[in-house]
Amino acid sequence: QSTTEVDVSKIEPGQAIKTSFRKQPLFVRNLTPKEIAEADAVPVSSLRDPQTLEQRTAKGHTNWLITLGVCTHLGCVPLGAGEGENRGPFGGYFCPCHGSAYDTAGRIRQGPAPKNLEVPKYNFTSDSVVVVG
Ligand code: FES
Repeated sequence: QSTTEVDVSKIEPGQAIKTSFRKQPLFVRNLTPKEIAEADAVPVSSLRDPQTLEQRTAKGHTNWLITLGVCTHLGCVPLGAGEGENRGPFGGYFCPCHGSAYDTAGRIRQGPAPKNLEVPKYNFTSDSVVVVG
């Protein structure tokens, strides 16, 4: 199984990029303090797929939300990892296929998707490089 190295040094707070990992879309997002606070403010027990932002990010790199860009409903690529795209009512990502809305932790909040966006295994080898896989 191959790994993918991503240089995150040019991704500004609030910005998300779409790249690829094992032929699937991969979203890499630099969360703003406000987006982190929004994610942390949600009662975990209210979630369909209960996980904290902390559980979905790496220790010391909580601002980096790294997920597959694959909707857990039927696999469309959600919007939001590109400039000016619709991030949906919860500010994370929005799947235009059947309206699944994800929050700033990539957690499913509305619509038919059953699960949060998948977080792949990854490791920061420095502050600017992450190796996925
Ligand atoms: Fe995303 Fe159906 S594939 S909502």
